[in-house]
Amino acid sequence: MRALLTKIERASGLDRFGDRLQQTVQNVLRPQRVRDLLHGVWLGHPLHPAMVQLPVGAWISAAVLDLMPGQRKAATTLTAVGTLSALPAAVAGLNDWAGLARDQRRVGLVHAASNSVGLALYGASLAARLSDRHRLGRTLGWLGLSAVGAGAYLGGHLAYKQGAQVNVSVSDLHLISDGWHPVAEMTNLPQRQLLTRKVDDVSVILYRHGDDVTVMLERCPHQSGPLGEGEVREVDGHACVVCPWHGSTFRLNGGEAVRGPSPNDQQVLPTRIVDGRLEARLP
Ligand code: FES
Repeated sequence: MRALLTKIERASGLDRFGDRLQQTVQNVLRPQRVRDLLHGVWLGHPLHPAMVQLPVGAWISAAVLDLMPGQRKAATTLTAVGTLSALPAAVAGLNDWAGLARDQRRVGLVHAASNSVGLALYGASLAARLSDRHRLGRTLGWLGLSAVGAGAYLGGHLAYKQGAQVNVSVSDLHLISDGWHPVAEMTNLPQRQLLTRKVDDVSVILYRHGDDVTVMLERCPHQSGPLGEGEVREVDGHACVVCPWHGSTFRLNGGEAVRGPSPNDQQVLPTRIVDGRLEARLP
């Protein structure tokens, strides 16, 4: 399986179709507010993995009921619930997919293809059940479950091996030792300007507003873009840093994500000022 997954990651032949589909998704899913809603920016976590729980749960339950006598009606209802709820989950997944790196998009394409086959099989299963062909409906349902099972395996690879839509920067915290660390002299810190510094070996950005100074991890939680090279922009009255790679936007006061594709907030470090020197520590 590992060799197969590596092959998919390197399958550059998928890129032509993938690039076109990415463009289409970005053109169709507008405005940015809709994209952020589907990314789960409002939730602080990716929305797609949460949304797939409903179809997967309904379909697995239907498969179990299909093994029991007298449960045709319940199994049909669950097949319908799973099939209908899979559609918005797929849209949220496509939206996330369009913001991934190339190797992730290749695996994501096969993940989506496998789930699309599963969804089509479940649609056919539902049609068969509604026209009283329950034996065929059961067979199509089990085939559909196999296809979405393969899709789920690829989704797991995307998240856990390739780090798609997970917070890739938070592990930097493990590289910072306990205790307060000197970061900068306050007299050397200009107002409202992004600076980069190191805390232990971890890059952080500094932003001073009056006597308040934000110290935030520099690596973007989306795909490690350098926030220190981003621009500061005001969003809803709050100063925010915009990632130069894909535009994820984080409040400089607190790190909250206000625009995707990152649904994850950026980590800020607690600070204090001692004898005119700015210090930071682990949260
Ligand atoms: S790396 Fe993608 S938005 Fe920052």
